Amino acid sequence: MSYCSIARFYKLIESVTIGGSLLDARLAHLQHLAEGPAIQHALLVGEGNGSFLLPFVEQFPNTLITVLDESAAMLRVARTRLEAAGIDTDRIAFQQADMTTEKLPEGRYDLIVTLFFFDNFDAATVRRVVSVLERASTPAAQWLLSDFQIPASGWRRLRARIWLTILYAFFRCVAKITARTVTPAEAILAATSFKQIARRTFSAEMLYSTLYERA
Ligand SMILES: C[S@@+](CC[C@H](N)C(=O)[O-])C[C@H]1O[C@@H](n2cnc3c(N)ncnc32)[C@H](O)[C@@H]1O
Repeated sequence: MSYCSIARFYKLIESVTIGGSLLDARLAHLQHLAEGPAIQHALLVGEGNGSFLLPFVEQFPNTLITVLDESAAMLRVARTRLEAAGIDTDRIAFQQADMTTEKLPEGRYDLIVTLFFFDNFDAATVRRVVSVLERASTPAAQWLLSDFQIPASGWRRLRARIWLTILYAFFRCVAKITARTVTPAEAILAATSFKQIARRTFSAEMLYSTLYERA
């Protein structure tokens, strides 16, 4: 899998599809996070081109941030976006790594962010990565998760199925992702020490954004 070939066009691809709703889902709990305990060190996994990173950096001026992504091109685009916005990137570590094999330091991060990342993988891989991230979290960590889902019934279900068929066909072709449909990441997180504290849906329930805290 590699998002390198589409890194420069990723924002454009979003803007001609469901970009507005994707951004709403990413940022849904930013205010909630800002009103909670201070965040010392956040880990953004599969952050891509910086759509979350940019507003996050602005809202949390004292937080150390590690941005981990497999794609060097995505990391470059994200860094360039910050520099263009005049943001000092000293407190941000851009780390090129494959999260499916990466070993992370234990108990380091008090915020984990996985936005539209788990939809790239099958359930077994998501389970493995979730467990690595859980071990890398502090005892009072929070976790922000956004992803796609297929609503239970009605026109929303049909609409989501059509969109997801198109999106998976596209990303299987251009980014060579192996997943064929969405993995129920929330069900996987439900089996961890993290508990849901807030949840919102977007785009006729096709997207969700869930905030967790460690019990
Ligand atoms: C669908 S994009 C999502 C990007 C961003 N989080 C967003 O909200 O749009 C998936 C991102 O995960 C990265 N990625 C895919 N596989 C990865 C892996 N095994 N380890 C780390 N990053 C990975 C890709 O390079 C890409 O930037």
